[in-house]
Amino acid sequence: MKKYITQRSREVYEKNKKYLTDGVGSYFHKAVYQEYPIAITRGKGSKLYDVDGNEYIDYVMGFGPMLLGYCPEPVNKAVREQLEKGTHFSAPTEDLGRLAEKLTQIIPSAEQVCFQNSGTEVVMYALRLARAYTGKYKIVKFEGQYHGWSDEEKISITAKKAEELGDRSCPNKIIHTKGQRLSSADDLIVLPWNDLGLLEKTFQEQAGEIAAVLTEPIMCDSGPILPLPGYLEGLRRLTKQYGILLIFDEVITGFRVSLGGAQDYYHVTPDISVFAKAVAGGYPFGVVAGKREIMECGIHAAGTFNGNPVGVAAALATIEELQKPGVYERLEEMGELLQRGFRKLAEKYGLKIYTRHFGGIFVLYFGYEDDVEDFREWLQKADVGFYEEFVKRMEEYGVRLTDERGREYLSTAHTREDIERTLVTADVVLGEMTGR
Ligand SMILES: Cc1ncc(COP(=O)(O)O)c(C=O)c1O
Repeated sequence: MKKYITQRSREVYEKNKKYLTDGVGSYFHKAVYQEYPIAITRGKGSKLYDVDGNEYIDYVMGFGPMLLGYCPEPVNKAVREQLEKGTHFSAPTEDLGRLAEKLTQIIPSAEQVCFQNSGTEVVMYALRLARAYTGKYKIVKFEGQYHGWSDEEKISITAKKAEELGDRSCPNKIIHTKGQRLSSADDLIVLPWNDLGLLEKTFQEQAGEIAAVLTEPIMCDSGPILPLPGYLEGLRRLTKQYGILLIFDEVITGFRVSLGGAQDYYHVTPDISVFAKAVAGGYPFGVVAGKREIMECGIHAAGTFNGNPVGVAAALATIEELQKPGVYERLEEMGELLQRGFRKLAEKYGLKIYTRHFGGIFVLYFGYEDDVEDFREWLQKADVGFYEEFVKRMEEYGVRLTDERGREYLSTAHTREDIERTLVTADVVLGEMTGR
């Protein structure tokens, strides 16, 4: 197996850096373990092609949106048709209502929806809604969960060591970047995940001030970490009991884990839920969904491009594709093949590999095998260095995995051949890394 030559990518990066901050469109596109990111010319299905002409099997999938793979024809067709009619009107269209109605049929918590353009925005809006509806201001969020890059969202999203997180019953609130207001976390209560006892204690002491609990239903941004049996149900029960709203951030899980999101998968219905990424097959789009009386509590979703017709056309076409029979079964099948393959490799190389799959998400990490319960345990057990090296080497042989948290994105375009090639490549890389 030969390593790819990526000299042109290096040149593109050096050139882009001159006039473009960080040399990339989003800081997340920066190479984490390599000297420069691979520069892409095009994508098709499960594959990306770089400026040096190399082909990659991709599991980054634009960090989630490309659930139908790159250039899905039904979405492209719907968008092409919309381009001929106009891209932006600042006025309602019939399709806007069609999409809204469809979403209320698909998402259990959606009696009404409103639209934004990104995951960061939908979370911001959900927090405002919760505060407006309850008249309270504090929000409970959990260590290791990322909800976007706004001042209030980027708190305690990561750490290098569990000790940085402080005492578990009163965790540190970590502010992550220069320029974030020091008061950003004032209205946040940060807790470890999967711990109903600690949550109830917090409610007993502060329920009168807490507007909402904000959580990913599966902690996709760390690990990922699965909810313990009964945890989501417990969140639902306790929030109801103490008059606090439950917000699910389904920016990653939405449309991926199942058509109705993780709330449908686990049969736990939050008061508000937010979606972005995969909803529009690769176009910027965000959805806030909730109970009618919450959605109509007197605040308004502003934004020049909200509900833009191109995004609406893409979302309608995406959902139509996802509603076809067999879509999620196929994603499960691909995930299962990967999981089985990596378990065999774990045995062959005597490694601890954590692998799970749910819908269009495949989980892969090193250093542990059994589920961990929260971000602290993950930090203690995860072999970050091994994962980093593995991702770096896989890319050199043409398989692109997500850097950091071990959450790999599948698409409906991934094939059995892709999975086989991925596992053969992983076999070579693990052989190199373990010297066997
Ligand atoms: C769970 C979650 N919420 C919110 C966001 C923010 O979404 P966006 O990058 O579209 O602003 C992300 C982004 O990765 C996310 O993973």
